[in-house]
Amino acid sequence: METYGSPLYVYSRTDIENNWREFDQAFDTHPHLICYAVKANSNLAVLNVLSKIGSGFDIVSIGELERVLFAGASASRCVFSGVAKTKAEIKRALEVGIFCFNVESMAEMNRIEQVAKDMGIQAPISLRVNPNVDAKTHPYISTGLKENKFGVDIDAAVPIYQMAHDSAYLTVKGLACHIGSQLIEVSPFLDALDKVLELVDKLNKINIHIAHLDLGGGVGIKYDNEQTIDINAYIVSILDKVGDLKIILEPGRAVVGNAGVFVTKVEFLKQNSGKSFAIIDGAMNDLLRPVFYQAYHQVLPVNENAKGTDAHWDLVGPICETSDFLAKNRKLCLSEGDYLALMSAGAYGFSMSSNYNSRPRVAEVMVSGNQHTLVRERESIQDLFNKEYMIND
Ligand code: LLP
Repeated sequence: METYGSPLYVYSRTDIENNWREFDQAFDTHPHLICYAVKANSNLAVLNVLSKIGSGFDIVSIGELERVLFAGASASRCVFSGVAKTKAEIKRALEVGIFCFNVESMAEMNRIEQVAKDMGIQAPISLRVNPNVDAKTHPYISTGLKENKFGVDIDAAVPIYQMAHDSAYLTVKGLACHIGSQLIEVSPFLDALDKVLELVDKLNKINIHIAHLDLGGGVGIKYDNEQTIDINAYIVSILDKVGDLKIILEPGRAVVGNAGVFVTKVEFLKQNSGKSFAIIDGAMNDLLRPVFYQAYHQVLPVNENAKGTDAHWDLVGPICETSDFLAKNRKLCLSEGDYLALMSAGAYGFSMSSNYNSRPRVAEVMVSGNQHTLVRERESIQDLFNKEYMIND
């Protein structure tokens, strides 16, 4: 903290690599590609480290595509998801030769076909189907139910595949689904898999052959005491069902979530009508998950021998909103000036941060063995005004 200041995100390179390899190695020789979901943490160093060990990437915007390419990865290992790909995004993705588009609607398929036609080439596509299963996770991160905006109703998929198959500008590659995030049970994944395999059979019968199945991301991590998914057992149960079909997975959180912490400093301790508040220098703009999803992040003192006042503390930030908290009612022994680590913050931490209250976004550091490297500078005040203009009169 003396070197980099506070607040700060810190990631472990070894943990990121080991987490990714756990997915990769469980497949052994079965054809597969582990496409890390860039949205979870899109720092260039994270992408570069993963690219070096052979990761593919799940991207959802041209920004993510350019990051992945800049980090040294090959477009041929990228799948492009997301419900509203623009013409410019589709064109760029085709120019650089991405592996596959995960198409989310008939209208989007028509757009991709048109762009491919204008370029005189064929676009590789999978249809993302919505298998209508309950992922049993927080409603904001559940995507596989009928009422969600994602994918095409699985019962409506056959005619869309037929159209893609008949098109001179589309190549049918695969079938995709993603039912939600932070799943802590395998059964919804396997229910979805059974449904997509039925569709694969139906398509085979009309001579449309799928070369890969993309089962999305969603494997949950331990934030507190919850039991979560055994990755190896999950993959073994996939392999039991899929014959020799190539499998793509898009894990984000499970790769980076528990490989990162958010470090923040206690500025003041304060009592208000019997409640104990620790006012910290980190805030909801830096780590949005607690207020947005009522998410729990464990809080640990950075210095294990810290002395101070024992109490049940609410950790609140400097932002002018009652919802600006990172943790509530945590039994800790605190003094002003202490550093605290919010655990499991490597996924959807920095990537969801903002400049709300004109707060510069924090620095990011990667640790590898006993080395530590700054992988994103803390924003300066000047950075906050960049690209803004006053009216001249
Ligand atoms: N593939 C697709 C198509 C996705 O939409 C997502 C996540 C993933 C893969 C990666 O899912 P994961 O393995 O990370 O669960 N901001 C929320 C999570 C949003 C997830 C959005 N989609 C959070 O902080 O919990």
